[in-house]
Amino acid sequence: MLQLLYISSARRNEVIDLDQLLAQAQRNNARDEITGLLYTDGRRFLQALEGPKTAVEDVFLRIIADPRHHALVLLSRRETTRREFGEWSMARRSFQETQDQFGGRIAALCRDADPSIRGTFAGLVDVRDAA
Ligand SMILES: Cc1cc2nc3c(=O)[nH]c(=O)nc-3n(C[C@H](O)[C@H](O)[C@H](O)COP(=O)(O)O)c2cc1C
Repeated sequence: MLQLLYISSARRNEVIDLDQLLAQAQRNNARDEITGLLYTDGRRFLQALEGPKTAVEDVFLRIIADPRHHALVLLSRRETTRREFGEWSMARRSFQETQDQFGGRIAALCRDADPSIRGTFAGLVDVRDAA
């Protein structure tokens, strides 16, 4: 099993349709047995992807080539023996949610992840790591 973690930014002046992105990723990832977590505030993206090695490498190549974002930096590449993210999800703060509630939700989604991965998500969302 391969797990990748990267960070990227939306292109300047690019308004990304997150609902469309979510639907596209959900459909493909279910097909490709990819799980993970995509955090976004609409401008920045932090995504963990995990699953069968070839499937993860393939989706990562598609993501790198996607013109909707740029400045992608691979933060971590790990071989894992189990899935640390049970399912695939995208997390963005909803209008009703406070920053603390959002942080709690991210912490719950990262509960079983490696401490360094959990810390990276917590750091970007700017919350204390719940662990
Ligand atoms: C920030 C970001 C995250 C993405 N995450 C995924 C993903 O998890 N899975 C996926 O299949 N596509 C993801 N995409 C979309 C891919 O770049 C690509 O457009 C898509 O896989 C092509 O799918 P299609 O062949 O079904 O059109 C992401 C794109 C962006 C900009």
